[in-house]
Amino acid sequence: MTKSYETILVERRGAVAIVTINRPEKRNALNIQTRSEGAAALDELSADDSVRVVVLTGAGDKAFIAGADIAEFAERTAIEQRAVMLDRSLFNAIDSFPKPIIAMVNGYCLGGGCEVALACDIRIASEKASFGQPEINLGIIPGGGGTQRLTRLVGEGKSMEMILTGEIIDAQTAVAIGLANHVVPADQLEAKTMEIANRIAEKSPVALRLAKEAVKLASRSNLDEGLRREVDLFALVFSSEDKDEGVKAFLEKRKPEFKGR
Ligand code: COA
Repeated sequence: MTKSYETILVERRGAVAIVTINRPEKRNALNIQTRSEGAAALDELSADDSVRVVVLTGAGDKAFIAGADIAEFAERTAIEQRAVMLDRSLFNAIDSFPKPIIAMVNGYCLGGGCEVALACDIRIASEKASFGQPEINLGIIPGGGGTQRLTRLVGEGKSMEMILTGEIIDAQTAVAIGLANHVVPADQLEAKTMEIANRIAEKSPVALRLAKEAVKLASRSNLDEGLRREVDLFALVFSSEDKDEGVKAFLEKRKPEFKGR
């Protein structure tokens, strides 16, 4: 990594990069600097071939991200707010990130924080984590993709209830409704997340990228179009050197060495 940031930390653990939102005194609330630094860090990690998986988390033991920085809301006009949300959107940077990205949810995961987690591919929660879209309590609605991604993930009934009541749910409930993939004791959160991240990091980067693209199509296209494009993406991955290596390694009864080509 060449750049350094003020509100986020980037750490490397082999092929896995850990991006930490680092404003624990403000419960890692997303201000404009955090959003743009987060997006810039993801751009860097996207271009770095040695990074195969990214883990996104929050600093401290209280919060993943407690939402958008509410103090900034008070200062902005509607037009300025729209520009902030459209310009260098962290949510879009996560959504279009070509490598697997895992949210390691260590505490409050609220509002824009829940939307950050929703934009990630997999969510691992600590028993201390809690999830919610409490925007309604401020007289606003989710604006970082929550109405769309939460609904696609957990269904309209649960999404509607969370968004209309602003209720905060615990990690077990989040798993039960499909919002989080796993819940583990707080002291096992990092180990569980790294176990999954490392397992993914061993796979072919080409296949991971195309698999992500294909899975994301499921909620963005109709079935016929999705199935058609899956076949095209399958044909594309079939032409990769990693596919040759994967098949060869299986037949030779050894572990494949994927190069990302
Ligand atoms: N935006 C700006 N500042 C925030 C924030 C947010 N979303 N969430 C927390 N903070 C700040 C608090 O203002 C406080 O700052 P201060 O010490 O300068 O007064 C600091 O973080 C600690 O927050 P505090 O409320 O004392 O911590 P807590 O652990 O008791 O409670 C929360 C944590 C997350 C439950 C509570 O802060 C909260 O409800 N935050 C807002 C959540 C929300 O509505 N998010 C959606 C925004 S659209």
